[in-house]
Amino acid sequence: MTAMNSSERILDAGSAAADRLSSPDTWESGGRLWPSSERQALTCCRIVNETHDVKSFEFRTSDDLPVRFEPGQFMTVSANVQGQSIERCYTISSPPTRPYLLSITVKRVAGGIMSNWLHDNLTPGSQLKAYGPSGTFTPTVAPAPKSLYLSAGSGVTPLMSMTRASIDLGLDRDIAFVHSARTPADIVFREELQRLATLSPRLRLFFVCEEIGGEKNWAGATGRLSLELLSEWLPDYADREVFTCGPAGYMRAIRDLLREGGHDPARYHQESFDIPAGAAAVPAAAAAAAAAPTSTSKENEAAQDIFTVKLARSARAFTMSQSETVLAAAKKAGVAIASSCSQGMCGTCKTRVLEGTVDMHHNGGIRDRDVQKGFRLLCCSRPTSDLVLEL
Ligand SMILES: Cc1cc2nc3c(=O)[nH]c(=O)nc-3n(C[C@H](O)[C@H](O)[C@H](O)COP(=O)(O)OP(=O)(O)OC[C@H]3O[C@@H](n4cnc5c(N)ncnc54)[C@H](O)[C@@H]3O)c2cc1C
Ligand code: FES
Repeated sequence: MTAMNSSERILDAGSAAADRLSSPDTWESGGRLWPSSERQALTCCRIVNETHDVKSFEFRTSDDLPVRFEPGQFMTVSANVQGQSIERCYTISSPPTRPYLLSITVKRVAGGIMSNWLHDNLTPGSQLKAYGPSGTFTPTVAPAPKSLYLSAGSGVTPLMSMTRASIDLGLDRDIAFVHSARTPADIVFREELQRLATLSPRLRLFFVCEEIGGEKNWAGATGRLSLELLSEWLPDYADREVFTCGPAGYMRAIRDLLREGGHDPARYHQESFDIPAGAAAVPAAAAAAAAAPTSTSKENEAAQDIFTVKLARSARAFTMSQSETVLAAAKKAGVAIASSCSQGMCGTCKTRVLEGTVDMHHNGGIRDRDVQKGFRLLCCSRPTSDLVLEL
């Protein structure tokens, strides 16, 4: 990564504003920061209807403490839905330049538990528990003078936080924001984005809708984003650092399109909202072990180590093979451990390992300082010895 002076750092992400606001010289000495490594209460203070099926929920933190985060990061939100504790990740759509008011923007998912519960039950004054912020989908990891933000549907949320931060800081950054939606009425943050573009001439907006719906005088593009359209709008797209968020199919199409157009894949960053059930990242060795030809259980035991996992607080224990994640083995053994993404992203399953060692392959859901304190993410950790967990 290129070295940056302090003003470039602010220019790069906008998140540096939060760094500045919450640096040890300011908040941490005189005030306090929201304790992000524990589940904390958030109080809903405002609800905004963004489109017919998308709402933004704005929250104050417990004790009205400021939250330090990077634009593009997410929170893991938990709620009691029909007697069950449900956890899901939601990107913080507000910018880090407004550290006292955290917003998430949620699209209703047909048949989905949490999204519908939030839409139907949350009112100003309601409280939720949340953990975070987590995630590495943020421009601070890839400073660049020119950016291309590509989003579809609710994937607009992390890019909105990045854009709001940039505008709040008066940076006039070179951002090309291309958003795809089903119809013009489905464009989330449409009016705000248009207003922000008038404030910052180097923020350029492009909308592409599959259908025009009821908006007969739609002036944007129709159909799907193509390489031809992208080249026409942004002949310099190959020079831009790309940040993409949207449904899995959309991101696959975007990756193919950019590859075909000669964009350097090293300058491509994406966040996926889709979590295939139980899709924890499998390290190559474990995957190979799992895919090995069938053998008798005795041969299997000889080939794979079997470890004992003890739970210090509940005095329970179970055995597991090294090819499983600790979370998956615990679930099999009937031990309830809070989890959400199962991909090492959200941090929900973070647990302290009191004795023993694991092989952990996470996706940004845990900080180095927590690893140093002995915490691990159980959804992406496989044992390399017997374990004692602080559970
Ligand atoms: C890092 C990250 C950030 C995210 N940010 C956002 C954001 O900013 N905004 C946003 O709207 N979303 C975001 N999401 C997605 C969000 O976390 C949820 O996945 C989404 O809201 C759906 O959750 P749900 O509980 O409503 O749906 P779920 O109950 O999890 O259901 C998801 C789908 O599975 C189907 N389903 C559920 N149960 C069954 C069953 N038994 N059999 C068959 N099908 C079933 C449902 O019909 C639905 O189609 C993010 C996800 C991640 C990982
Ligand atoms: S469940 Fe998300 S990090 Fe483990």
